[in-house]
Amino acid sequence: MKDLLIPSVATILATRDETPDTRTFALRFRDDEEHRSFSFRPGQFVELSVFGAGEAPFCLASSPTRPEHIEVTVRRCGVVTNALHALGPGDEVGLRGPCGNGFDVEAAQGWDLLFVAGGIGLPPLRGLIWNVLDQRSRFGHITILYGARTPADLVYKDELRVWSAMDGVEVKVTVDRGAPGWEGNVGMVPVLFDQVELRPERTVAYVCGPPVMIKFVVQDLLMRKFAPERVISTLERMMQCGVGKCNHCCVGHRYLCRDGPVFSFAEIREMWE
Ligand SMILES: Cc1cc2nc3c(=O)[nH]c(=O)nc-3n(C[C@H](O)[C@H](O)[C@H](O)COP(=O)(O)OP(=O)(O)OC[C@H]3O[C@@H](n4cnc5c(N)ncnc54)[C@H](O)[C@@H]3O)c2cc1C
Ligand code: FES
Repeated sequence: MKDLLIPSVATILATRDETPDTRTFALRFRDDEEHRSFSFRPGQFVELSVFGAGEAPFCLASSPTRPEHIEVTVRRCGVVTNALHALGPGDEVGLRGPCGNGFDVEAAQGWDLLFVAGGIGLPPLRGLIWNVLDQRSRFGHITILYGARTPADLVYKDELRVWSAMDGVEVKVTVDRGAPGWEGNVGMVPVLFDQVELRPERTVAYVCGPPVMIKFVVQDLLMRKFAPERVISTLERMMQCGVGKCNHCCVGHRYLCRDGPVFSFAEIREMWE
């Protein structure tokens, strides 16, 4: 079994700018056999190292149903992320993982799915969204609600259009502040709840984004009678080892890196008690 503390070398195949400070990196392990045997669940993350700069965790933003390469979407905010943004196709990075638990896709089979994302919270859900779209007949109606600060901060703009054109998939987007040329919704993500038909009794909801957004969205969903065990979110903490060894990410009796980062709201509530 692979030692999750030892990084492997991966090559950057391509990059795509999502916003002025956020970029998607397509990666492939240098060793073909290692690439073929790398399996993961949506919602898991990797520890990515930029040689000479350091290591940081990033969720896998691609789907295991599309194994040609793996993708991470990274917002530039400090030492490692700035160093990563300075790299391009052909450059190499270190990769450890997959880490964490990931989303239980099997358990969601047969349910309607509601995805609610804010800002850079869409990348962890994007892997899951493509995963369920690649097995479309196994799931019910799909609703994707996405909000960002401004139109320029929306990631995956092309994919939002592709998803909204698909049968049985509804996509609504909003921004906190409009801009010249923006004719869409303005307001925080919960404003979108009144524009779609929510069916709490047959829906699993996935919520990812900044903590304050998660708090308000989850409160709203519970008020609308979503069951706490079917409201699923990801929790983030400063992490180092990513595999439950260093104690950096403890919350209550859990390690967020090993037992999470994916938890139902029922589990989150129990952790805080
Ligand atoms: C499980 C997990 C998955 C993640 N997935 C993604 C992802 O897909 N895309 C992405 O862009 N980012 C993601 N992050 C956040 C990312 O790991 C941090 O942005 C990164 O560690 C910053 O490293 P840096 O060296 O560039 O910044 P540093 O120089 O270390 O710090 C810059 C600033 O960012 C803050 N910071 C550092 N780490 C975190 C963190 N984990 N949470 C909040 N603030 C932090 C620091 O306090 C500081 O203010 C994830 C974090 C976790 C724990
Ligand atoms: S990051 Fe080391 S225990 Fe979680």
